[in-house]
Amino acid sequence: MNQPNTPDISFFFAVHQHMRSDLDRYLGSVGGAVESERSTRLRSLHRWTTGFICELEEHHFAEDTFFFPDMRRKVPSSVAIIDGLEADHRRLDELLAAWPGVSANLADPAVPFDGAKSAAVELAGQLRDLLSVHLDIEDHDVLPLYWRHYTAAEYDALQALAVKKSKKKGIWFVAPWNVDNLEGAERAAFLAAAPLPLRAIHRLVRPRYDRLIAAAFGATPVAVGETAKR
Ligand SMILES: [Fe+2]
Ligand SMILES: [Fe+2]
Repeated sequence: MNQPNTPDISFFFAVHQHMRSDLDRYLGSVGGAVESERSTRLRSLHRWTTGFICELEEHHFAEDTFFFPDMRRKVPSSVAIIDGLEADHRRLDELLAAWPGVSANLADPAVPFDGAKSAAVELAGQLRDLLSVHLDIEDHDVLPLYWRHYTAAEYDALQALAVKKSKKKGIWFVAPWNVDNLEGAERAAFLAAAPLPLRAIHRLVRPRYDRLIAAAFGATPVAVGETAKR
């Protein structure tokens, strides 16, 4: 349990764990894709991809614009690690820019299926491998610095600024995706503390989001995993 003056960064860990779970699930999903799904499940999977890209881009924007610059100023020993993480973000930008086209081809009956599937598996593997190392570095070498060098008030102010200035692109996906980072009482408390307009948006987009997940992957809920609860 957090001390009163220690930043609560559990949500940051939960976001990272959800990203890992989703990339693993996507990789399994494209690996098992068959041609007869092109006008059904793979179309939904393409739609899911466009939303997940918004979440990844929003997350990188928040880190590049708010969390990392502030950490650079406050903890000079973090600069070399953050340089490496920002370079990863630029490499990830390239993969994310290519992803919609690759994912659209997988759902397009006019594109030869085997090549489209190989390209989707290849891209998903590159994304998963790069992000998996990247997220481990953030979890092990950067996030604990908030515990050591920030008060709870300093961290909360930084997080509030990042939320306020977020790009809010793809809110139809980003809002429910972030609520799904948490479970049970934590999820209920998170929703209760959210501003009223965000709660209203979440209520509005949730049914369509759940239908999309079921259509793209089947009805199994995301297994966020134990590290989300650290
Ligand atoms: Fe990052
Ligand atoms: Fe991150």
